[in-house]
Amino acid sequence: MTDATDGMVGDGYYDAHSTFQAKVAESGAELLEQAVQAATLPADGSVVVADYGCGEGRNSIATVQSVLKLIAPRITGSPVVLHSDLPTNDWAGLATNLAGEGSYLRTFPEARALFAPCGYFQRVTMPASITIGTSGSAAHWLSGQPPGLDMPRSLYRSDAPLAERAKILAQASRDWEAFLAARAEELQPGGVLLVQMLGSDGRDDPLRVSAAGLLRLMNECALQLVESGDVPKEAYAAYCFPVVPRTVEEAAAPVTGALADRLELLHCGLATVPSPYQQALEKTGDVAAFAKHYTAFTRAFSESSLARGVFAFGQGDPAKLADKYYGMMQSALAAKPDGYPFDDLTLAVMVRRRD
Ligand SMILES: C[S@@+](CC[C@H](N)C(=O)[O-])C[C@H]1O[C@@H](n2cnc3c(N)ncnc32)[C@H](O)[C@@H]1O
Repeated sequence: MTDATDGMVGDGYYDAHSTFQAKVAESGAELLEQAVQAATLPADGSVVVADYGCGEGRNSIATVQSVLKLIAPRITGSPVVLHSDLPTNDWAGLATNLAGEGSYLRTFPEARALFAPCGYFQRVTMPASITIGTSGSAAHWLSGQPPGLDMPRSLYRSDAPLAERAKILAQASRDWEAFLAARAEELQPGGVLLVQMLGSDGRDDPLRVSAAGLLRLMNECALQLVESGDVPKEAYAAYCFPVVPRTVEEAAAPVTGALADRLELLHCGLATVPSPYQQALEKTGDVAAFAKHYTAFTRAFSESSLARGVFAFGQGDPAKLADKYYGMMQSALAAKPDGYPFDDLTLAVMVRRRD
């Protein structure tokens, strides 16, 4: 199966339009502190920190900076940091960011950064080598398209018909177990992993699914491309946006089930992170800026998946189709700024590797 995405839009675009993901990381500050406290540190004073799904670095570097500040009083050796993402990630951008002003390499010049260009559904480094793992706004990405989808008018967990939703959830469940099994292998005994990802609230009926409003807009714009003949309906029917917000129960299941002998569940809970684009709109009333920034945020994380799963099957140049798609999105948001709220639920999961 090919990956669900080639990564975020690179060359600084994702970093410039990932303020929401930065807020997600900030919202986890207390949990990060608990994760560092809960980790058993190696007796030789060394520490290896890994960040999974690091992207081009703005938020990954900030998270690692926080971990190193928290852990510094407890270690004597030079910390090693592993940034991991898909081979197609913008690694050059990450290298540039690591050399920049805000980098933890300035604060902790004795630290060393390593890259692991490997998908997170397998082990990305040596067994039993990671002391503290983090992952921000990444683990909701699937390994690929769920096989056999037929959903010509929907795009996401929140709007898929029941039978198709079951295929999406089956894939999400297999993927999450694979993600955790790989971490169980590479965490040191007593090592702790903190994952923040999109969530769903299973207590509400209908289920409250993070980002459902935005995905409704993405679906409406894609359907316009199908209706105008730009994209064949068969290609669209076989595609879901390959991101699945999980419920607390779904997230806890492998830890209390198949992986219970290797992992211990320290935390699994939902919190809400407000959309910075919505907050700016409320403060300034500037609808054009809202539509522009909300669209750019969406483009930064979604373009590579849509390019591969939808635009590539279209008539003409996929890059022009992408411009048309995101242009439609921006116009729709400008016309109806209250119509497609981001409405986040962030799910945080903390696990510790058993001895
Ligand atoms: C929204 S970005 C988050 C980046 C960063 N952690 C942050 O908080 O800004 C999601 C990241 O997950 C990565 N990703 C998606 N699927 C992945 C996989 N199978 N293995 C590793 N990384 C993956 C993407 O390439 C991307 O860099």
